[in-house]
Amino acid sequence: MSAPELEWTPITVPEDDLDEPALTRIARYVATANRVTQHFWGDERGDTSVEEVIASLRLGEDAITRRWLVSAGGRDVGRGIASMGREEGTSVAYASAWVVPEERGQGIGRAMAERVEAEAARLGATTVQVWADHRIPADDDAAMSPRSGTGAIAADASARLLASMGYALEQVERVSELDVEAARPSLEAHRADALAHAGEAYEVRSWQGPTPPELQEGMAALYARMVTDAPSAGLETDEEQWDAARLQRVERQYEAAHQTPLQAVALHRESGVPVAFTVLLLPEPGRPAFQEETLVLTDHRGHRLGMLVKAENLLLLGRLHPDRTRIITWNAEENRPMLRVNEALGFRPVAAEGGWQRRLVTDRSPE
Ligand SMILES: CC(C)(COP(=O)(O)OP(=O)(O)OC[C@H]1O[C@@H](n2cnc3c(N)ncnc32)[C@H](O)[C@@H]1OP(=O)(O)O)[C@@H](O)C(=O)NCCC(=O)NCCS
Repeated sequence: MSAPELEWTPITVPEDDLDEPALTRIARYVATANRVTQHFWGDERGDTSVEEVIASLRLGEDAITRRWLVSAGGRDVGRGIASMGREEGTSVAYASAWVVPEERGQGIGRAMAERVEAEAARLGATTVQVWADHRIPADDDAAMSPRSGTGAIAADASARLLASMGYALEQVERVSELDVEAARPSLEAHRADALAHAGEAYEVRSWQGPTPPELQEGMAALYARMVTDAPSAGLETDEEQWDAARLQRVERQYEAAHQTPLQAVALHRESGVPVAFTVLLLPEPGRPAFQEETLVLTDHRGHRLGMLVKAENLLLLGRLHPDRTRIITWNAEENRPMLRVNEALGFRPVAAEGGWQRRLVTDRSPE
């Protein structure tokens, strides 16, 4: 199938004042992206705001991210992204092609997916990864399982497209949602139980907004472990260097994007070092909150610190933002310890996210 002719408009932001044409382009890009998320998730989700995109364009210094608004015949039909970390030795880039529901089935998705993959290769990647939303397969759905063997997705349009391009489904993440009101009555008990198991060796701290200066180095060390310690199945990962300055950059970007972080850490009393942390990210009111990173350092696992920091953070959420009623999170299906904590808190599966990968050098079929 040959796609209609596509026009690719790069989304950029001037250093100083945001002029009207740039702002309009960004607003069209955001509206296009949100038509795709609304189609999959329903009205209330909307995963991008204009402020988030501007903040990422201006302050997302740790990665090169190229974004495009894609149009055909004067209509906005999709948006594409290719992104790669800037660190020396990085080999993995992320690509994403979204087509608005009304324009599907004309070859636009394939043309866009090929172009964003080529753009990822141009950034220097030897491996391209794509994260795509899928339904949890119903009984009569054709399903696909990842090479890791855990979890499943419905074999929908994006699964077929990616498989036909040579991408392997390596990992499935469970997307779960928490009804905060329903969870609230048991949070104190979860926290108390976790504290009792953790014992005297640990104390818990939580805050809203930027990380206090005395904890920044320790928190940066925990962030660096996220890529190496979280299960990644067959997905290649690049190590990341983190220090207090990088953490500050991330937190400045949150602020510019109007996203409020709530963070909780478990501190090892003897050393004063944070050994477990969790982050809730709150976009503007009316949208769900996102449960982002959670990590317990290997040497400190088995003391219920994961539950401790999550329950503590949810209690902080209830005190500061009682109006927030829904939280969404993503966990690898093979990550039983994390899923056990989330299930106990009341998170329920709502969708699946597929981690797809293609090694450009070795996976390319002979011409
Ligand atoms: C996946 C997506 C990009 C496809 O866009 P599209 O413009 O409809 O795609 P195309 O018309 O180019 O079709 C490409 C392939 O998708 C698959 N596909 C498209 N529509 C399909 C359908 N209704 N049922 C099953 N498979 C379908 C087929 O494999 C098709 O290849 P073929 O035409 O050679 O059979 C679009 O559905 C989308 O934006 N989904 C949400 C975002 C997403 O998941 N993006 C993919 C990750 S980057």
